[in-house]
Amino acid sequence: VMGVSGSGKTTIGQLLAQRLGLPYYDADDFHPKANLDKMSAGSALNDNDRLPWLQQLAENLQEWNIEGGAVLACSALKEAYRQLLSANTAIHWVYLSGTYDLIKTRMEQRNSHFMKADLLQSQFDALEIPDYGIHIDIAKKPSAMIDEIIANMNTKKAFFGVIGLGVMGKSLSLNIADKGYSIAVYNRSEGDEAEVVSDFLAANKGLEKLEGYTQLPDFVASLERPRKILLMIKAGRVVDAVLEQLVPLLAAGDVVIDGGNSHYQDTQRRFENLQKKGIHFIGAGISGGEEGARNGPSIMPGGTQESYAIVAPVLESISAKDEQGNACCTYIGKGGSGHFIKMVHNGIEYAEMQLLAECYALLSPQMEYDAIAELFLDWNKGELSSYLLEITAAILQKKEGEDYLLDKILDKAGNKGTGSWSSRAALELGQPNTMMASAVFARYVSAFKAQRIALSITIKADKNNLQNIDIEEVKRVYQFARIINHHQGFELMQAASEAYDWGLNLPEIARIWTNGCIIKSNFMQAAISLLEAKNNLLEQTTIRAELTAKEAAIAHVLQQGIQHRIPLVSLSAAYNYWISMTTERLSANLIQAQRDFFGAHTYQRVDASAEQFFHTLWSQKKSAS
Ligand code: 6PG
Repeated sequence: VMGVSGSGKTTIGQLLAQRLGLPYYDADDFHPKANLDKMSAGSALNDNDRLPWLQQLAENLQEWNIEGGAVLACSALKEAYRQLLSANTAIHWVYLSGTYDLIKTRMEQRNSHFMKADLLQSQFDALEIPDYGIHIDIAKKPSAMIDEIIANMNTKKAFFGVIGLGVMGKSLSLNIADKGYSIAVYNRSEGDEAEVVSDFLAANKGLEKLEGYTQLPDFVASLERPRKILLMIKAGRVVDAVLEQLVPLLAAGDVVIDGGNSHYQDTQRRFENLQKKGIHFIGAGISGGEEGARNGPSIMPGGTQESYAIVAPVLESISAKDEQGNACCTYIGKGGSGHFIKMVHNGIEYAEMQLLAECYALLSPQMEYDAIAELFLDWNKGELSSYLLEITAAILQKKEGEDYLLDKILDKAGNKGTGSWSSRAALELGQPNTMMASAVFARYVSAFKAQRIALSITIKADKNNLQNIDIEEVKRVYQFARIINHHQGFELMQAASEAYDWGLNLPEIARIWTNGCIIKSNFMQAAISLLEAKNNLLEQTTIRAELTAKEAAIAHVLQQGIQHRIPLVSLSAAYNYWISMTTERLSANLIQAQRDFFGAHTYQRVDASAEQFFHTLWSQKKSAS
């Protein structure tokens, strides 16, 4: 129960608690000693003072919720305070609404010493009226107010809606329900999806706050306003098709979140279209697969700050938490920026996966899979630790009967497009993201299985003779290439941030990638402070020193790979990027001369200013025709 001082929070809170049979608490009873001292010395609390108090209350609210609920009276005047309070749990907000004059008159009648008028005014100045929750007019009688609150709470409207009960939609729905939010889910019932909703409801009978629908209008009508709807459906045309049906059922102020891997330009377009209709559209990248979705994913929401504020309590409560316990979910930026970031996440993911595949290719001629798994688990204890390394070790250990399952898996890698999208975005932005591009192309090459078989017949590979690989060297090579991969990924985001004016906060993006997502790692943790110092990792002395120290190892391992015909496309991309970026004079002077020769494209000179462009009349006889 919230509102300014004097709006009757204690009276209404206590009456409400009585009617609901729940314990009542007054937020003022939970102030830390420092705040009590400050207040009794006559000073007003500032936001910093309130922070530990609100965090404590948020923890209490979570506990009370688990115990069956409680009524808390707390002024919670600012939206930021309310967001902190609802960080871990769902709250039914009751806002006690009254005019300055009414409250002043009441206080004067009640107290012999009326609180100073300017103090009441300052409360009104600080007040940010919530555009959600139950708003109650305090001019009414207390009993009527309680009836109204109870009636509103009992409308049984769900707080949150999810469309699409695929693996991710189901897991996220259960995650949201776990946090105490009432939830409605929708899935179409055509064809083989006929039983999806009923099966889901049957499997989760214990959840009283879960309702399921197969008719979109019923689903929409079941949601509390403003409606908050998460789309967990296949990216692409399906999203437009669902929006076409959904939007006419919505009202201004409702929020639609697309949690799929949509292309950021589609998201930008949808964001602009829905903005015209007054509907909040959030393109949220969600990483972590099924496990993450159920227990805490990393969430990358883009849209407007205002839209994000409406759903932040839900998204932040279901997300993974970083080392400090903060949500791995943060407002990313305008329009399609959240999906752009998720796309780059996947680009980095592609290269990380390919690098591990290349380490496996280097090590497997001389090591048993179990031994490689142990080596990876050992690497995983230190700075190389990552989710992808951990699962790779588990994969290498997996047996089917006597055989390793890995040996039974066809070597044709699939993809759903995000890796190529991020590589394409890099090309468009003039960014040399050779790591993700090489990983995408490696997958594409792998898909040409039949041709590979045919062409390999005449080639004699002596891959199995590669017996003298130095394991320590492979580790250094892997470390080297991961740094280049992350550097290129962050550079791509920085370039997009500048091109699209997104104001991306790279350390904050690294922070929300330290847990919940597929590329979570110790390096990501270290990247936070590195990026805080400088956006460009190669501008960091320690990083440059590390890459320099490992250069000989990567050159040597690449030589061995080449000699034994082991394709190392991402490792060599890392090496070539590094040596190119650290070479003062490249051979691009020849490219410029060629361009000028056939197309009069002009060139700059080393002995003239950068503003001057030159054209030479090269030999006339050598034209292309
Ligand atoms: C994640 C993953 C997830 C999905 C990829 C796989 O962050 O949780 O990236 O989004 O597994 O889309 O992509 P490919 O099928 O293209 O490998």
